[in-house]
Amino acid sequence: MMLIIDNLHATVADKPILKGLSLTINAGEVHAIMGPNGAGKSTLGYTLGGRPGYEVTGGTATFDGEDLFALEPHERAAAGLFLGFQYPVEIPGVSFVQFLRESLNAQRKSRGEEPLSGGEFLKLAREKAALLKLDMDMLKRPVNVGFSGGEKKRAEMVQMGILDPKLAILDETDSGLDIDALRIVGDGINAVMRRPDKAVLLITHYQRLLDYVKPDFVHVLAGGRIVRTGGAELALELEERGYEAVAA
Ligand SMILES: Nc1ncnc2c1ncn2[C@@H]1O[C@H](COP(=O)(O)OP(=O)(O)O)[C@@H](O)[C@H]1O
Ligand SMILES: [Mg+2]
Repeated sequence: MMLIIDNLHATVADKPILKGLSLTINAGEVHAIMGPNGAGKSTLGYTLGGRPGYEVTGGTATFDGEDLFALEPHERAAAGLFLGFQYPVEIPGVSFVQFLRESLNAQRKSRGEEPLSGGEFLKLAREKAALLKLDMDMLKRPVNVGFSGGEKKRAEMVQMGILDPKLAILDETDSGLDIDALRIVGDGINAVMRRPDKAVLLITHYQRLLDYVKPDFVHVLAGGRIVRTGGAELALELEERGYEAVAA
């Protein structure tokens, strides 16, 4: 089992948000979590990632056999957890290539692996950029500065490809994307993560990304816990009937 979340309780600014959430993800699976605005979907992603301000007040999470909450955020990343966000940060003055090489080498160091040289890294970056159809010149520009929504997402997929995580948690990666960008994200997830040794947790408000990345399981998050689980057809039912009817 890749990730076992058991009876998770978490607070944000002392406000209880997650109230007994349990979820198990196996290698090779794609799970989607859907739910109304404010249900706690992003809180789940941030809590698993270890973002400051998101406090675990009960329950456990085991990632690849390790106690996830005992690890620092950078250790979670080095252990193979990748978090993609709704709003990618812009970092003026730092090129994407520099940023990605630093990130990858920090993770490699944390795992006791040798850093990649500049040449080795560029070879890897070129390979992933080609796979994900991102112009290599984009990676020489400052991180996300002046990138369109679609370019940011394509770059995020390249980042994911380079870091090569075991589990990717992607939060509202589809919001604000047009159909072309949506296809890029869907193709990216499928190319990098649809493998028997990897898993994906897609956090999304809409079902349209799920046309491109077919989930094995769809969960409805409401009131701080998973209230329903089904297959891909549950996402369509939610779209049709609304959260209240389905989650009640
Ligand atoms: N930094 C914060 N301070 C206070 N409340 C927050 C903060 N972040 C999120 N919340 C609250 O936590 C609840 C869950 O938010 P969130 O996890 O972002 O929901 P979702 O992603 O499902 O829309 C909401 O009621 C939101 O107002
Ligand atoms: Mg959210």
